Amino acid sequence: MPPGRSVVAAGTSRYQASCGSYSIPAYGPLAVSKPSVLVTRRIPSSVLTRLEEAAEVELYSRGDLPHEELIARIAGKQGLLSVVTDSIDRAVLEAGRDLKIVSTIAVGYNNIDIAAARERNVIVTNTPDVLNESTADLTWSLMLGVMRRIVEGDRLVRRGGWKGFALDFMLGSDLRGKQLGIIGFGRIGQAVAARAPAFGMRVAYTGRGPKPGVDGEFMPLDRLLSTSDVVSLHCPLTPETKHLINQTTLARMKRSAYLISAARGPVVDEAALVWALENRLIAGAALDVYEKEPEIHKGLLAFENVVLSPHLGSSAIETRTTMIQLAAQNIIAVLAGQPPLTPIP
Ligand code: DGY
Repeated sequence: MPPGRSVVAAGTSRYQASCGSYSIPAYGPLAVSKPSVLVTRRIPSSVLTRLEEAAEVELYSRGDLPHEELIARIAGKQGLLSVVTDSIDRAVLEAGRDLKIVSTIAVGYNNIDIAAARERNVIVTNTPDVLNESTADLTWSLMLGVMRRIVEGDRLVRRGGWKGFALDFMLGSDLRGKQLGIIGFGRIGQAVAARAPAFGMRVAYTGRGPKPGVDGEFMPLDRLLSTSDVVSLHCPLTPETKHLINQTTLARMKRSAYLISAARGPVVDEAALVWALENRLIAGAALDVYEKEPEIHKGLLAFENVVLSPHLGSSAIETRTTMIQLAAQNIIAVLAGQPPLTPIP
């Protein structure tokens, strides 16, 4: 660790870190007024350096931070930079009595107890907008992957199963001329829709109500399910959307339709999806998110007409870097007494 670094590797006390090879701690009573921030994952060093200019940073760099350890480490911190897999529940917020801001490196914030944060006047920020395009690209990759059987074909080639070209070999489905039904027509849903004309698809969407000035036909959920050739999920996870895709809604879909999800796992009842696939009620599915990540319902693994990616929606290097920068900027602003850049709505 270079001199002056205030980062404390997981399992190393601040004292050990500063005294290991350099005898004088870089901060004495005069520097104690710097706020403290807990960062639950490794982040790019450029962002870390900016954060360190504003705060004492405790970085947990060993992967997933166990919940009990998060509770132990949050005491005395004014800022928390966290990710989607950190459960920021009431217990964390209670232990973090000094917290001023929880900044999550994600657009979704269903992992944070917002009511408990509000009760304690803790500001919660997320990283909206900057990931719209990456997530939309990934959504189309899933769509193309399952409808044109790319992943299935890749598996076949790798196991030596390709015997050569044939006119009727591995026929998939065209996208052109079909209806893309989007559930959750927010920023990401609209970024997905914006790509539809390039593929010759018409857009239908459902949500709280019609949106003025958008390309696409608003329809109630039931009609969207029964008329769409692709149903793509982009709604947040809320008590209302948990298991929105269940046996009843899957049974409404066309037998030739595909289900795509890059939203949040629990929006889909995975057991119901397995049931629908077993009964050939839909043509296939492509998922990026799961009910109990990283676990995946074992039944899904058996289907060739299912594509499973490991929560990659926003995982392009440029996008992730921008998300992390934005999340850090939110912490820096709030700890400097300024308004956050992107508070949750
Ligand atoms: C998000 O932003 O909500 C993603 O799921 C995490 O990258």
